[in-house]
Amino acid sequence: MAQAPHMTVEVQSAANTCHRLRGVIHQFAESLGAAIDAKDPYIKNHSLEVAELAWLLARRLGLSREEAELVHIGGHLHDIGKIGVPDRILNKQGPLADDEWALMRRHPEIGAGILLPVQEIAASGIMDMVLHHHERHDGQGYPHGLAGQEIPIGARIITVADSLSAMLGQRTYRDPMRFETALAEIKDCAGSQFDPQVVRALVAASKEARDLLNDLQPSPTLPEGAAGRDISGGGPCPVCRFEGKTG
Ligand SMILES: [Fe+2]
Ligand SMILES: [Fe+2]
Repeated sequence: MAQAPHMTVEVQSAANTCHRLRGVIHQFAESLGAAIDAKDPYIKNHSLEVAELAWLLARRLGLSREEAELVHIGGHLHDIGKIGVPDRILNKQGPLADDEWALMRRHPEIGAGILLPVQEIAASGIMDMVLHHHERHDGQGYPHGLAGQEIPIGARIITVADSLSAMLGQRTYRDPMRFETALAEIKDCAGSQFDPQVVRALVAASKEARDLLNDLQPSPTLPEGAAGRDISGGGPCPVCRFEGKTG
C-alpha cells in the first residue's frame, strides 16, 4: 500500500529532527570536553584527542559511521565526571594519597550521573561508555570490575585512546612519551589492561593515529618542523565540521 504523502513528510521530518539532535549533542559534548580539559593546565585537547582516536579505532574495528560517532561523542565526554573532583586533587603536584585516589576514582560514576538526565545520551550507550572507561580487560579496573566482553565495546575503545593520549601528554610528574614507546606499552598491556582486539586495531592504524595526533596538536614529542594546527581554543573537531569525513 502506498504511503500517504503527509506520512512521508512526517517520517522525513522526524529523521531530520533526530539528525539535528545528534548534531547538537555532539557539539555540546565537544564543549563539555573542552571545559573539562581547561581545568587542568597540563592537559591540552585531551578529550578531543580521545574522541578522534576513538573514531579511528571504531572504524578500524568495523563499526558503522553512526556507531563510531557515538563512541567519538563518548570520547569527548569520558572525563566529564572530573567536574566533581576537587581542583586541589586534579592539579596536585606529586602522588595522590589513598583518600584522594578514592575521590579521583569516582569520576566515571560522577560523569554517568551528570549525563543520566539526557535521555539520548543514556539510551544510545554513551553514558555507559563514560561509566566504564576505566574498566580493565582482566577485570581489575573500576568502578564495577567488569572483564572482557562485559565491558561495552565503546568503553574498551575509549580506554585505549585515553591511555595513548595520556602517555603522549605532559604531566606534572613526567615528560611526554614518544609515540613508539607509548604504543609498545599499550601492546605490552594487551590482554591485561586492554582488549587485545582494540590494541590490534591501534597497531594496524598506528600511522593514521600518529598523523591524526600530530595534526591536532604540536607537542614536544613531534619531530622538528612537524606541522600542526592550533585548536587549543576548543574549536570544532573534524567530525563535527566535515560531513564527508572518511575512515
Ligand atoms: Fe578518566
Ligand atoms: Fe567531535
